[in-house]
Amino acid sequence: MIRFEDVCYAYDGVPILRHVDFRLEKGEAVAITGPNGAGKSTLLKMINGLIYPELGRYCYEGEEITAAKMRDHRYSKWFHQQVGYIWQNPDSQLFCGSVEEELAFGPAQMGLSPTEINARVEDALELLGIESLRRRAPFTLSGGEKKKVAIASVLTMNPSVWTLDEPLNSLDGKSRQWLMEFLAALKEAGKTLIFSTHEVELVEYFADRAIRIDELHQVKVIGIRQVS
Ligand SMILES: Nc1ncnc2c1ncn2[C@@H]1O[C@H](COP(=O)(O)OP(=O)(O)O)[C@@H](O)[C@H]1O
Ligand SMILES: [Mg+2]
Repeated sequence: MIRFEDVCYAYDGVPILRHVDFRLEKGEAVAITGPNGAGKSTLLKMINGLIYPELGRYCYEGEEITAAKMRDHRYSKWFHQQVGYIWQNPDSQLFCGSVEEELAFGPAQMGLSPTEINARVEDALELLGIESLRRRAPFTLSGGEKKKVAIASVLTMNPSVWTLDEPLNSLDGKSRQWLMEFLAALKEAGKTLIFSTHEVELVEYFADRAIRIDELHQVKVIGIRQVS
């Protein structure tokens, strides 16, 4: 479903992604690991169609993702509904005046009916146990609460692919445990998960494979367990 073919990418002439080549199947859980500055977030941005290969190709469900393709409004809307992105810093992701509005934003963009939007918002609030936060402004929330709201705002779009940048970062023990269980439930539900992480625990707990990027930006794809 996701295919990288010899993808290269540089910032201002400095190569960050070098000949990245892999293929991910639906339902796989894949960890992106490597030291700071290796290019994990860059790879996630590319998977999310925010930046594009300079060489090579990235295809999603057989369609090459390019700047031109993403200028097609209908396609990019569909694509962003298919591939959800949990940013490392929830402040980059949350921009509405209230938690409720934040959760309704994606489904409204998708053109769903007010009844359906409402149902999705209520389901997400309940599933994440954040009903009491519904009228709060996101910037007033704690780090763990913001992370939950960011997750809920992706959940209301029900994407097939979940991409998460350092999802456990800056979470306390309880929120970490909760998030691990949430990710396990997504995997169980057949979602494709792609997450960058420093945490061996998360890799061992879930990942079917790991994409390891080293400090020289060399990429290796490693099998962790048999994919059924
Ligand atoms: N927008 C940008 N402009 C220039 N350089 C960038 C930009 N974003 C990231 N970089 C650089 O690219 C390298 C890889 O960054 P990143 O993908 O964020 O790594 P990681 O997530 O693995 O820590 C780093 O050296 C970083 O400074
Ligand atoms: Mg990063």
